[in-house]
Amino acid sequence: MKTTDKIYVAGHSGMVGRAIVRKLKQSGYNNILTASHSQLNLTRQAQTESFLEQEKPDIIIVAAAKVGGIQANASQPADFLYDNLAIANNLIHAAYNSGIGRLLFLGSSCIYPREAPQPITENSLLTGPLEATNEAYAIAKIAGLKLCEFYRRQHGCLFHSAMPCNLYGPGDTYHSENSHVIPALIQRIHQAEISGDKQVALWGSGTPRREFLHSDDLASAVLHLLDLDNPPDLINIGGGEDLPIRELAELIADIVAFNGEIIHDLDKPDGTPAKLMDSSIMHSLGWKPHINLREGLTAVYQDYLESSAIDT
Ligand SMILES: NC(=O)c1ccc[n+]([C@@H]2O[C@H](COP(=O)([O-])OP(=O)(O)OC[C@H]3O[C@@H](n4cnc5c(N)ncnc54)[C@H](OP(=O)(O)O)[C@@H]3O)[C@@H](O)[C@H]2O)c1
Repeated sequence: MKTTDKIYVAGHSGMVGRAIVRKLKQSGYNNILTASHSQLNLTRQAQTESFLEQEKPDIIIVAAAKVGGIQANASQPADFLYDNLAIANNLIHAAYNSGIGRLLFLGSSCIYPREAPQPITENSLLTGPLEATNEAYAIAKIAGLKLCEFYRRQHGCLFHSAMPCNLYGPGDTYHSENSHVIPALIQRIHQAEISGDKQVALWGSGTPRREFLHSDDLASAVLHLLDLDNPPDLINIGGGEDLPIRELAELIADIVAFNGEIIHDLDKPDGTPAKLMDSSIMHSLGWKPHINLREGLTAVYQDYLESSAIDT
């Protein structure tokens, strides 16, 4: 990747897209192309094709997706499948048609079977049934990564994919029902703290284990992969450590200085019991994360406080 390359970051306004744009700029890449959702709806094939044909970026990073937590995924499966299939299909096919040589597609660890042996290697793909609560999202992401693999095999274009573990970072989506676990817990525990509540409810049993990576670490992995001449079709990106959701909640409570009790709402689903990825291939290629969870969460809580102060 050259600093003069024109790099289109699809989904630049999202948590991941923003981190990638920040990292690109810090690393001297200033020819960055972006388009907001209202300027370019990536579920629309004709719009996507004419945008890429006109702009002809050298590289595309696909960080655009319909993303949400367990509740959003479970309650809107048709939207999650349709939007994410359409985004992958439109961008990858239009990139090929416009002669764009390189594309990096981002998926997520939910592409792997629910009961995949831990830590999950790339070889676990399509070896068993998916977790029901995010099946729609996972199927769309599997189709996207397979499109990249098959366009590369059939047409020789350097399209490849990376599957990050659960991510968190500044600019995350804070929503009472639809957020991922970290922003949901930050918001709920913060609200409990300022309201003086004695208890806060954690969804599910708290026993599922999850692996988390700061979005800035993911961004450095993305640049690392784009510097490789022959990257694997599919690669896991994670730090290699997980923890139970209960422990995560206790850590956030400590950062927020909430002294009340964390109780469990057992009517809410748990999701996959464990999702630790084997990222040894990525680590062997010379990339490692640098932000530990406590330090990352402390900074993210600060960002949450600052952005909620601006919003109010
Ligand atoms: N967050 C995680 O924990 C996590 C974990 C693993 C992998 N990932 C992957 O990282 C990528 C980005 O996730 P994120 O957390 O940054 O999500 P996000 O904050 O919700 O950002 C998604 C981005 O996609 C854009 N977008 C959505 N639908 C679009 C459409 N039809 N046309 C154009 N733009 C559209 C959004 O724009 P608007 O906001 O304007 O709609 C936003 O810029 C996804 O592929 C996801 O699978 C995320």
